[in-house]
Amino acid sequence: VPEVKVDSSKIYTIPDFLNSEDCEKLIDYHKRNVTFKNSDQRQYYNDRVLAYPYIPSDHPVKAILRDCRTRTFEKLEELYGEKEIYCGYTHLVRWPDGMALNMHRDFSYQVYTAVLYLNDGYEGGELLFYRPKKPMKIAPEKGMLVIFPNPNHTLHGVAEIKGGDRYTMPMWFTYDESKGEGEISFPPIRDAEIRKSCID
Ligand SMILES: [Fe+2]
Repeated sequence: VPEVKVDSSKIYTIPDFLNSEDCEKLIDYHKRNVTFKNSDQRQYYNDRVLAYPYIPSDHPVKAILRDCRTRTFEKLEELYGEKEIYCGYTHLVRWPDGMALNMHRDFSYQVYTAVLYLNDGYEGGELLFYRPKKPMKIAPEKGMLVIFPNPNHTLHGVAEIKGGDRYTMPMWFTYDESKGEGEISFPPIRDAEIRKSCID
């Protein structure tokens, strides 16, 4: 399936980037493993964000994430000519029914953002790009990857999700090797620690 250039701002959508079965494996892994502890210490991330380093290196789900990341690097070269670039973060994220994200800019060192959509079964949840009259909307599709560059830190957001949870695998890319995520895996988190952190 050919990728589609959305407009002159070099935003690309790539349908069927990940097959349906693997999308479901990522969601299932997220449901069973996301915790307060491995999300992030920030309240906003709690119980929603599972970061790549917390998935054990030898887990089959890690191989799916790694493969998606590798193929996204290939797209960054093919579509934008980027050869020396690093992935700063790879996350699995749940966006609960009713959630939205206001227009914002990603960090300036994050020169490209890619979002892989993992499910359907909800309304809304479009990726929004600021335009002077009304935002440009990209409707998510299961298995679709969107890549956008951040010249001048592109203003973007997410429309309200309605009728079900929305799952994504976002990746952020940087020229700064020191901000690369690498392949270090954090030790697994035990139930007792999780329960303790939930009480805190
Ligand atoms: Fe963002």
